[in-house]
Amino acid sequence: MNEELVSESGHSHMGILNEKRILLGVCGSVAAFKAVALASQLNQAGAEVTTILTKDAARFVTPLSFTSVTQRPAYVDLYTPDPGRILHVALAEEADLLAVIPATANTLARMAQGLSDDLLACTYLSTRAPVLVAPAMDGGMYTNAATQASLATLRDSGVHVVEPLEGRAASGLVAKGRMPEVDALIAEIRTVLGRNGPLAGKTVVVTAGGTQEPLDPVRYIGNRSSGKMGFALAEAARDCGARVVLIQAATTAPPPLGMTTVSVTTAAEMQAAVNEHAAQADALIMAGAVADYRPETARSQKTKRTGDPLAIRLVENEDILAGVPRTLVKVGFAAETDDVLRNAEKKLTSKGADLIFANDVSRPDSGFGADTNQVVVLSNARPPEPLPLMAKSEVAAVILERVSGLVRERSEK
Ligand code: CTP
Repeated sequence: MNEELVSESGHSHMGILNEKRILLGVCGSVAAFKAVALASQLNQAGAEVTTILTKDAARFVTPLSFTSVTQRPAYVDLYTPDPGRILHVALAEEADLLAVIPATANTLARMAQGLSDDLLACTYLSTRAPVLVAPAMDGGMYTNAATQASLATLRDSGVHVVEPLEGRAASGLVAKGRMPEVDALIAEIRTVLGRNGPLAGKTVVVTAGGTQEPLDPVRYIGNRSSGKMGFALAEAARDCGARVVLIQAATTAPPPLGMTTVSVTTAAEMQAAVNEHAAQADALIMAGAVADYRPETARSQKTKRTGDPLAIRLVENEDILAGVPRTLVKVGFAAETDDVLRNAEKKLTSKGADLIFANDVSRPDSGFGADTNQVVVLSNARPPEPLPLMAKSEVAAVILERVSGLVRERSEK
C-alpha cells in the first residue's frame, strides 16, 4: 500500500486485522483443520496469530501446521518454559482477542466453570481481551442442557458465541453444531475487534450492486456493477462498530457477513428501502449503481420478435441520494468517463451530499468489477483530494474514516 496514504489520525489505512494480536485457541474437534486455514488468512490480513492447542487438538492438527502458516509460536503445554515471564499471563496480556475456534463441549464447560487445567483455560481466565468461541460438535452434544448452560454462562460473562450451523457432522448426524466456514469466522472476528470503533452505536446504510429495470418477464436493463465497492464499504462500516444495513441490488461478488441485508431489484425498490432505513440512520453511502431510466411499461408477457425495429420508451427514475434529508451524512460516488472533477463537483451540490468520491470508470483498474479503485474525494470543506490507486477495501477504510469524522461532528452539534 502507498506509504503516503496516512489518515488524519496518523494511522495507516489498512484493514482492522492489521497488526492485531490474535490468540487462537484450538480444541480437539474434526473442525480443527479449518483453524489452520483461518490462521493462514488472518496472518495474510496482517494479524499476529499465536496459537494455543489443547492436547486433544494436537491429535487432529499439529502445532507445526500453525507455526508454518503464522510464522509465530504454537503452544500446547502449560509449562512451556518462557524465561522471564509466565507464559499464560504474558499471552493473555498481549492479546487483542482470544478466539477459541473450534470450541469443544469440554473446553466450553471448563471455561464456564473457571477451571485452570491447561494453557488455554489459564489464558482465558487471565485475559481482559474480548473472547470469541465457535462451538463445533455433534448436534446431541450441542443441544445438551449442560453445553447450553456453559454457553449461557459464557455469554453472561461477555463472551461472543458464534452460532453453529445446521449441517452434516463428521458422525453423519445432521443437526446444529457444524462450525461456520472461514469467511464467516473472519467476519465475526472483525465484528468483535471493531465493536468499540468510531461508529459504535451508529447505523450506516450502504447500497451496493446494480439495479435492474424490467422490460418484460424475462428481460431487463441493467449495468455492470459487481457490488465489490459497496460490499467493501459495508464491511468497513461494520469494522468501525456500526450497525450496517446493506441494501443490495444485482451483484456478482460474494456478499459480506455480519450485517442486515435487504435485497432489491429495481431503482424504485432501492429508493423505498433507502428511505425506510435512512430514517433511523446516521449515514447513507450510495455505492449502488442506480439505473437513471426505466422502461415506461414493463410488459406482462414476453416481447416477441416482429421483424420491425423496436422502440422502448424510457422514463427517468428519481434521484435516491438527492431525495434523502441532509440530517444524516450523505455520501455518493460519481462514476464518470470524462471531465471527472467538474461532473463530480456538480453532483456534490445537486445531490446535497457531504462527500462525493469520484472515479473514472473508463480506466480498467478503477471501473466496474475491478478489485482496485482510484478516487478523488470531494467535500464542501476542502479542495479535491486525489487518493492513490488502492484495493477497494483500502478505499473503503478511507471513506469510513471520513464518514466517522462527519458523523461525530453531527452528533456533537
Ligand atoms: N444515484 C442515486 N439515484 C439515482 C442515480 C444515482 O442516488 N437515480 C447516486 C449513485 O448511487 C451515486 C451518485 O448518485 O452515489 C452518482 O451516481 P452517477 O450515476 O454517477 O450520477 P447520476 O446522478 O446518475 O448522473 P449521470 O448519470 O447523469 O452522470
